Parts: sequence; C-alpha cells; structure tokens
Amino acid sequence: MLNKRLVSILVPLCLLMVLISCTSTPDNSNGAVVYRQYCMQCHQADGAGVANLNPPLIQTEWVLGDKSRLIGVVLNGLSDPIEINGETFRNVMASHAFLSDQDIADVLTYVRSSFGNEASAVTPEEVMAERLNQTHVD
Ligand code: HEC
Repeated sequence: MLNKRLVSILVPLCLLMVLISCTSTPDNSNGAVVYRQYCMQCHQADGAGVANLNPPLIQTEWVLGDKSRLIGVVLNGLSDPIEINGETFRNVMASHAFLSDQDIADVLTYVRSSFGNEASAVTPEEVMAERLNQTHVD
C-alpha cells in the first residue's frame, strides 16, 4: 500500500529530474567539460595560464589565428620555445590526439569564444582534415 504510493510519487519525480538535467545543459557544454578535464590544470580556469610555465589562451596569435595550426597544437603538443605576448615559454605541452575529433572541436570552439576571445567555431571536420593531412605528410 505504502510502497505503491511511494512509487507513484518517485517515478514521475525521477522522470522530471532527468528531463530537467537534459534541457538545462547550455550550448557547447562539452567544450567546457573537456577544457576542465584536460586543459585547465595548466592554462587555468580563466585561461590566464601560469607565469613562466604555461602560456595564456587570452587573445594569443595561436588561439585566434590559423585554425589548422591551433588544431595542430592539440594533436601534436608543443615543445619549441614560443613567445606569447612578450613572454617566452619553454615548457612542454603533451599531445592530446587521443581526444575525439568532436572533443577537440568543442574544446577549441570553447577556447576561441571564452576568456574574452571572439573567434569562429572549430568543426570536427576541420580536426579530421588536420589529422589526415598530418598522416600524409609523415
Ligand atoms: C601539462 C600542461 C598543459 C596542458 C594539460 C595543456 N597545455 Fe596547452 N600549453 C602548455 C605549454 C607549456 C604550452 C607552451 C609550449 C611551448 O613552450 O612550446 C602550451 C601551449 C598551448 C597553446 C599555444 C600557445 C598559446 O598560449 O596560445 C594553445 C592554444 C594551447 N596550449 C591549448 C591547450 C588546450 C586546448 C589544452 C587542452 C586540450 C591544453 N593546451 C592542455 C601546457 C599545457
């Protein structure tokens, strides 16, 4: 008796919660999730990086510029010294080629439209093209 009543309350409640959690997800939330999981520990939540260690992702030539070069950083990592906004960085960023085309596209779209950046989205097709391009060069 009590169980039946409980079930008749709990089942609709669960369905409602599932519905809410699905519909309240903002656009490109996957990009933010991938960023938090794979980039944030070095480039920080606000994209400002860490002085002398990890470069910022705010208005840099790499972030706002040529998309295939930007995709290449995520696919291959980076270890040559680079100068970003007047500061030289000589640390190592590992390859993130293990991420899917979709995840790389989403995280780069997120980076290019966050931290004050306003650049166009990156598509999974562009990531795939860059992967193929690199395999053929080697
Ligand atoms: C282990 C720390 C680390 C992680 C994790 C990391 N990076 Fe980097 N990243 C670096 C370092 C260090 C450099 C500079 C490398 C150099 O000096 O050659 C860099 C360079 C870059 C650059 C080019 C320079 C600039 O600041 O514009 C971009 C873009 C970038 N990272 C994006 C990402 C994205 C996106 C992710 C997550 C998928 C990520 N990084 C994960 C450390 C990291």
